[in-house]
Amino acid sequence: MNFDKKITFTRVGILLLAFLGLIDAVYLSSEHIKGLIPPCTNIVFLDCGRVLQSRWASIFGVPVAFIGVFHYFIEFVVALLLVLKDRGILRRILVFFSLVGLLGSTYLMFIQFVVIRSICLYCTLSAFLSLMIFVITWKFFEKERKEECIKITHLIYKYMAKRILFLFNADFIHEAAVSFGAFLSRFRVARDALDFFYFIEDRTLYQNILGMHFDNPVGLSAGFDYDAKLTQVLPSLSFGFMTVGTITNLAYEGNPKPRLGRLPKSRSLMVNKGFKSIGTDEIIKRLAGIDFEIPVGISVGRSNSGLLNTHRKSVDDIMSSFKKLDKANLNNAYYELNISCPNLINSMNVDFYDPNSLDGLLSSLDELQLSKPIFVKMPIDKKDAEVIDMLKVISSHKIAGVIFGNLQKDRNHPSLVQEEVKRFKAGSFSGKPTWQRSNELISLAYKNFGKRFVVIGTGGIFNARDAYEKIKRGASLVQLITGMVFEGPQLISQINLGLVELLKKDGFKKVEQAVGIYNK
Ligand SMILES: Cc1cc2nc3c(=O)[nH]c(=O)nc-3n(C[C@H](O)[C@H](O)[C@H](O)COP(=O)(O)O)c2cc1C
Repeated sequence: MNFDKKITFTRVGILLLAFLGLIDAVYLSSEHIKGLIPPCTNIVFLDCGRVLQSRWASIFGVPVAFIGVFHYFIEFVVALLLVLKDRGILRRILVFFSLVGLLGSTYLMFIQFVVIRSICLYCTLSAFLSLMIFVITWKFFEKERKEECIKITHLIYKYMAKRILFLFNADFIHEAAVSFGAFLSRFRVARDALDFFYFIEDRTLYQNILGMHFDNPVGLSAGFDYDAKLTQVLPSLSFGFMTVGTITNLAYEGNPKPRLGRLPKSRSLMVNKGFKSIGTDEIIKRLAGIDFEIPVGISVGRSNSGLLNTHRKSVDDIMSSFKKLDKANLNNAYYELNISCPNLINSMNVDFYDPNSLDGLLSSLDELQLSKPIFVKMPIDKKDAEVIDMLKVISSHKIAGVIFGNLQKDRNHPSLVQEEVKRFKAGSFSGKPTWQRSNELISLAYKNFGKRFVVIGTGGIFNARDAYEKIKRGASLVQLITGMVFEGPQLISQINLGLVELLKKDGFKKVEQAVGIYNK
């Protein structure tokens, strides 16, 4: 059956089912008005009288049969309009009403089986019709189904899940969320269910970058999946790519707690993880042989160890990780080089911001002749001139792209609410305090280096408009963490849906046409 015929068949099918439901509900309503009981009383478990005369047969004084008439009438009219003309809004109404119908009839069947311990034939027929309408609608109206699920998840997250999660320690919730994701990733059925509800695919968002295919430009930043547990499940949440790490050659259990804190008024997280890592060897064991569905970036940093107290030792440590990773030859992967210092405690902080030390680090990396593209994760607390100097150095090496940028170190940044900052003695800040500077640096790189670098924009993305802003400034890809923590796991699908709309509105057929449009 071709696509058009299938859709027409679907809509006519829903129309017929709604019509049958309407007849059933009208019949029950007319019997109710006449004070009669339909003929099915007293046959084993069937007892329409017991059900229809029970207190469960009305909701707030309104007979359930009347509610059924209203419900099926709406579904019938909407399905009829859909047969005449296909409209997104009509599909959406049907998706919504079919869900309400399913939930309502499930509740009523539960009451019949468990509470009244009798069932009414006509109510059971209605439940069956509701189930059929739901199955057909949710199977065939894919876009609308996903939009509704995303909206519902957003509401549940905002008004319930987030309020509960935010009662607990942020570190604990981060670890629990990763463990839960890892648990889900073990079951094909769970991944398929997530796909069914959240996976957004639209060719407008496709890009081929550095030999890798990206289904969409929205990725997970370094710092969420430190131990490479989520590579199998995140594609189902509609991530177009993701980062593992930052990983380090030597294992480190993380800085003293608190390593993570929430600043809801500032729309930010305090981060003081200090490059917590199980070590490169363990990460490779975990990832070797996996066929990544989406490109996976492995973020590599310098081990957090007091023993690495010189630049040379630090460079050797970083090179060890890269050598091991390249030997493992992970499939569909790229590298992120995190040049920031990992907040060492009681030891020398080593970073590679200074052009000479950066040049030394990148020269050593060149010598390895790595087989995968490398991105450098940039700081956001440097002045424009310093960043330009760093980019000049980077452009003279075998580096494919840059990521703007890392965390906000300035505790007095205007978008931080001081009463929230005071709760934490150490750490840097993510989210909104990184937004503006990361945007400025994306523009700076794009204006000065054009297409020399593939730019990834990171920092303070909370919705599709935020992501689009970074793209228009010059980012081919974007990444986030904090937005997902504050808005919920459906955010990635929401951003992808929103990006498709925004691109369409601006007349772009492909996301890459919008990249850097502000700065061209
Ligand atoms: C909990 C957490 C841990 C992070 N750890 C790392 C890290 O290990 N390496 C890194 O390059 N960036 C790390 N970051 C910074 C993020 O990758 C990102 O650059 C920054 O948070 C801005 O994005 P966001 O506002 O969407 O969170 C971390 C951020 C958070 C929130």
